[in-house]
Amino acid sequence: MEMRKIFHPLTEIPKRQASPPVATVNPQKDEGSFGERKTVSKQSQAANKAWGGVFEEAADPRMEKFSESISFDRRLYRQDIRGSQAHAKMLAKVGVLTADEAKAICDGLDGILADIEAGNFEYSIKLEDIHMHVEKELINRIGDTGRKLHTGRSRNDQVSTDFRLWVRDAIDKMDSLLKNLQKAFIGRCDEDFDCILPGFTHTQRAQPVLAPHYWLCYVEKFARDRERLADCRKRTNTLSLGAAALAGTSIPIDRFETARLLEFERVAANSLDVSSDRDFALEFTFCLAVIAEHLSTWAEEWILWSTCEFNFIKLPQKFCTGSSIMPQKVNPDLLELIRGKTARVIGDLQTLMVLVKGLLLAYNRDLQEDKTPVFDAFDTVSASLDLAADMVRDAKLNREAINERLEKGYLDATTFMEFLIKRGIPQRTAHGMVGRLVRSAMNRGIPLAELPLQEFQAEDPSIDDSVYEILGVRKAIDAFQSYGSTAANQVRYQIDTWKKNIEF
Ligand code: ARG
Repeated sequence: MEMRKIFHPLTEIPKRQASPPVATVNPQKDEGSFGERKTVSKQSQAANKAWGGVFEEAADPRMEKFSESISFDRRLYRQDIRGSQAHAKMLAKVGVLTADEAKAICDGLDGILADIEAGNFEYSIKLEDIHMHVEKELINRIGDTGRKLHTGRSRNDQVSTDFRLWVRDAIDKMDSLLKNLQKAFIGRCDEDFDCILPGFTHTQRAQPVLAPHYWLCYVEKFARDRERLADCRKRTNTLSLGAAALAGTSIPIDRFETARLLEFERVAANSLDVSSDRDFALEFTFCLAVIAEHLSTWAEEWILWSTCEFNFIKLPQKFCTGSSIMPQKVNPDLLELIRGKTARVIGDLQTLMVLVKGLLLAYNRDLQEDKTPVFDAFDTVSASLDLAADMVRDAKLNREAINERLEKGYLDATTFMEFLIKRGIPQRTAHGMVGRLVRSAMNRGIPLAELPLQEFQAEDPSIDDSVYEILGVRKAIDAFQSYGSTAANQVRYQIDTWKKNIEF
């Protein structure tokens, strides 16, 4: 189903060459560049800092350690380089850089990218963050041209752009992990098709459910998670660059061009807003928290199912661990950890929510703290999803043990009541009749199907032998007909539809 387009009158990228209402003042010169003017930068006390000019005092080393983010934002190197290359190309297009300058910058950045990926890059907390590292290295490599890269941008819009690009990639990775887990559940529907499980409410046996109905229940939850992520992706996929520090820039940049180069669908329409906007990080982490919640329900269910008391499922031993004191133990630690790690993902979301609460417009350094919770939530949920898929593929249902106790708990009582309703007995009356019959069967420790006909006739004389055709758990399953129910034909339809719509 097509997702509804989000309406915003100002952010759409024009289909053809942009003529958006932006400043079109031409740079000083005809040959399309701001020209060459060598500057000798005098070093202040805050030597080597890109922002050091105004400072008379060097940074306290504790401050450097406290404020660095390179230890975690180095993870954004690919996005930072990609963003800078797009920025340089755009600057060349509008004539702020020459084509040669842009090429030197892009090539220099390619070299840095290759070195970072090969592990040949040195990081230092003196350079604060990934943006400073890449820029400084570029200047080391290509000289003064590198000093032009930061024209018309600020680290405030740069970090937001990098982070949006990172979250956009992370959403795509998350989508394929979710799909993989859905496929694991769908993949076992056929082999488990004829297995009936008790369905529970209040952890009490309630009504019978086909095993694949259970599996597709999780497929549905993860489908909503994917839909939520796709929705979050739309708002994430907005260009921040060009907001500069907070108010925009007097350099005649073309933000629509940058957006095209970075494959952003929209351009943020208000520089002040986008400098402070971390909604995309909050939304993404919320999506992750809901996935973790879904996983925790599944984990909890299978932990219970794997107990000696339930004995519904055998978990693959490669995902269990033993006890250091009790030699017989095989514990479902993977499931417990998936359940447990949900807490930290919710904690990550909480951290972000509190982080942005009451922050003044626009950028504040607090915002640097937004990355670790997002990275942590993403790493945690990714690993959980990946392992969950293999667990789902390899676990085995203990069919015999399930079957042996299937007639316990009067799972057919509701469909029996509905049988009476269909014969014209009002629901409340039928409910009372079946309740009394269940009580009588319970007292004798037998299922409803073993009660003699006279007992049924004592409740309603019109009941005849046909009652035995609808009693029993398997017959109860067959009686379901509503769309989305656990009737075999309904479940078959759902399985086939999912199989057609998810490629294996
Ligand atoms: N490392 C910073 C962050 O992650 C980059 C932006 C710094 N901007 C500034 N005005 N100090 O938020």
